[in-house]
Amino acid sequence: LMITVNYIDHTGVHYKVEASEGETLMSTATNNLVPGIDGDCGGSCACGTCHIIVDKIWANRINDRNSEEISLLQMTPDYEENSRLACQIIVTKDLNGIVVSIPEHQM
Ligand code: FES
Repeated sequence: LMITVNYIDHTGVHYKVEASEGETLMSTATNNLVPGIDGDCGGSCACGTCHIIVDKIWANRINDRNSEEISLLQMTPDYEENSRLACQIIVTKDLNGIVVSIPEHQM
C-alpha cells in the first residue's frame, strides 16, 4: 500500500510524496528533499527544526505530543495550536493522505 503525505509550504507550494510505514514525517520530508524541514538533530526531539503544522482534520488521528515536544515547540517562531515536530510522528497506513504545513521559519 502506498502512503501519501502532503506538505504545503508557507507560499502554498504543494509537495506530494510517498512515505513508508515506520518512517517519520521528518525523514520522509528530508529523504524526498522537501525544503523547509531541516531535521538538524536527526530526529531526537532536540533541535526544533522539523516544525510542521498538522491540518486540523488530521490532528486527532496522530499520537499526542509529550511534554518534551511541547516545550520545544513553544520556542519555535511560528508556533500554532496544531504544531508538531515532524520527527515525533511515525507514518502509519492511517496517515495516508495527511496534509501538513511547513512554517516560514524554523528554529
Ligand atoms: Fe530535531 Fe525533530 S529533527 S526535533
